[in-house]
Amino acid sequence: MALIDTNYSLPFNVIRCSHIEYAVKDLKATKKFYVDIMGFIVSEETEKSLYLRGVEEQNHHCLVFHETGKSEVYTLGFKVAFDKDLDMMERHFKGLGLYAEFVDKHAEERTLAVKTPIGLPVEFHAHQTKVPTMMRDYAKHKGLTPLRFDHINCFTPDCQSTYEFFVGQLGFKLTEYTLTQKGDMWAAWTHRKGNVHDMALTNGKGPRLHHAGIWTASVNHIIHLLDVMAAEGFVENIERGPGRHGISNAFFLYVLDPDGHRIEPFTSDYLTVDPDWEPLGWDLRDTRRQTLWGAPAPKSWFEHGSVFRGVDPVESKIESKPIMANYEDLQ
Ligand SMILES: [Fe+2]
Repeated sequence: MALIDTNYSLPFNVIRCSHIEYAVKDLKATKKFYVDIMGFIVSEETEKSLYLRGVEEQNHHCLVFHETGKSEVYTLGFKVAFDKDLDMMERHFKGLGLYAEFVDKHAEERTLAVKTPIGLPVEFHAHQTKVPTMMRDYAKHKGLTPLRFDHINCFTPDCQSTYEFFVGQLGFKLTEYTLTQKGDMWAAWTHRKGNVHDMALTNGKGPRLHHAGIWTASVNHIIHLLDVMAAEGFVENIERGPGRHGISNAFFLYVLDPDGHRIEPFTSDYLTVDPDWEPLGWDLRDTRRQTLWGAPAPKSWFEHGSVFRGVDPVESKIESKPIMANYEDLQ
């Protein structure tokens, strides 16, 4: 394992992660879960597509769902600072011998679709259609009161090289990382916007999406979501938590939507804007890393993920044994 320096000389500026585009089996069930239970705002909907945003967001969408009869992920979205960044990025990706093409996407001015070396389908845009922020429309807040899209976490079969690509070729900054006892990079948290992460990487069969992180204002909003889920018949969708992560120091919950796509309501991590921020390293066998209070995550959390359309995931070669809750012993 080696840590590398962030590349500050790139000719483009990625601002933050912005959205995920999913395929789902039943759009009505998706809308019930994300809008009625979690409290996302509908920006636009058609018979087969649903565009949602968090209550403070003024961009058209942070979650997009298309009813196709399949549960999968189309693309991971990121925002760049200016339109010209997209042209510089196209040149950069093609110079690396990687796929990069402009595509038409609803409610985005120009969209550059690329593929990373491990096959992650990623899109960059500078401008989405503007919509009103609902930040101060408190009477319309419900469920989690999801304020904004916070981060993406993906399984990768090669965490070291994927981390090096995001830091060395896209200018992301490492905040925390986990090593196996042999010293292999097992997980990495990297950011552009100044909190703990925009893009996190977890060792495992991949590439696959692990989860989307959604920011809310307080721990109480996460507790309230749990009460709403319990009252409305969604107990089985609660996978892990609530709790506090050691990594990121954030308060978390993991829930699964009707298609099994994982969402993490998330709050209260920390500021990372200093260029001389020193990354924090963790040992994979330290249970405080996953939950500061020591409770291990369930097996499903290490194994279940959403596949990307047309991308065959491959097994990781890293031997690793994260500590898991052994629910079989309890039965
Ligand atoms: Fe997360």
